[in-house]
Amino acid sequence: MFVFWVFMSCSFHTTDAIDLKNANLTEVPRDISNDTTHVYLSYNNISIIRDDALSYLPSLHRLDVSRNRIKTIEDHAFRSTKLVELIIHYNKLKLFPNLSDIGETVKTVYFNGNPLKFLRNKQIEHLVALEHLYISNTKVYSLPDFSLLPALKTVAMVSMSVQCCKKIMSLKSDLFFKVIDLETKLKPCNYPEELSGIPWVNISRDDMNIPCPEVMSK
Ligand SMILES: *[C@@H]1O[C@H](CO)[C@@H](O)[C@H](O)[C@H]1NC(C)=O
Ligand SMILES: *[C@@H]1O[C@H](CO)[C@@H](O)[C@H](O)[C@H]1NC(C)=O
Ligand SMILES: *[C@@H]1O[C@H](CO)[C@@H](O)[C@H](O)[C@H]1NC(C)=O
Ligand SMILES: *[C@@H]1O[C@H](CO)[C@@H](O)[C@H](O)[C@H]1NC(C)=O
Ligand SMILES: *[C@@H]1O[C@H](CO)[C@@H](O)[C@H](O)[C@H]1NC(C)=O
Repeated sequence: MFVFWVFMSCSFHTTDAIDLKNANLTEVPRDISNDTTHVYLSYNNISIIRDDALSYLPSLHRLDVSRNRIKTIEDHAFRSTKLVELIIHYNKLKLFPNLSDIGETVKTVYFNGNPLKFLRNKQIEHLVALEHLYISNTKVYSLPDFSLLPALKTVAMVSMSVQCCKKIMSLKSDLFFKVIDLETKLKPCNYPEELSGIPWVNISRDDMNIPCPEVMSK
């Protein structure tokens, strides 16, 4: 309650949101007011987010860079921000970005619609606050052990096939508020063969308690 009140009271007297959607930008701007909390940069032509691109925005809370042409996010792109919500869906990212600089604050990551092929434990293990991860419409064939994420509530993987083995067993845990959001993909398993064609609701933790196949790293 107290935290909520503080947030509300701050937002009354700051110019906290900046909307630069569809503004023909090719880089993250360097001239946004430094007390900005919400930055909207969707529908631009940004292809890279460089180290410290946003570090001059220490109150930055939500960033939307969806629907650009982002191929690269450097390791310290989000350093010195307080990002809670990161919206990077529909870009050209093959790798999940290194979010260790915001690992203690980021709660929601929209990553759907990127050509991501794998997600590894070391890429997510520092995301201690992550509650919602959206990775639908990617090309992911290899998933990390989601039990590494203590705050996780939702993983959305609409229209994807996954290997139903030990690593994703935790998605069936009763600990999750909303276990997994599969929407259109009711039969998600492409491994093992016995589980392909079986609806997710009919698959138990025991069914998935098998080793995952080895994946060659790229
Ligand atoms: C967008 O920027 C490019 C150069 O970066 C320019 O050639 C083009 O005319 C701009 N388009 C609009 C709609 O401003
Ligand atoms: C992106 O760049 C292309 C070509 O450089 C241009 O035609 C297009 O209008 C730009 N898009 C936006 C949203 O500025
Ligand atoms: C924000 O910018 C103003 C000048 O425009 C400066 O006085 C202030 O120290 C800056 N605040 C932070 C947190 O960087
Ligand atoms: C992310 O960046 C941190 C800090 O530079 C580094 O220690 C870590 O190894 C990186 N993580 C990955 C998965 O590359
Ligand atoms: C899935 O479980 C439901 C009951 O929860 C059952 O009616 C249905 O036949 C099962 N489907 C398969 C393919 O096992």
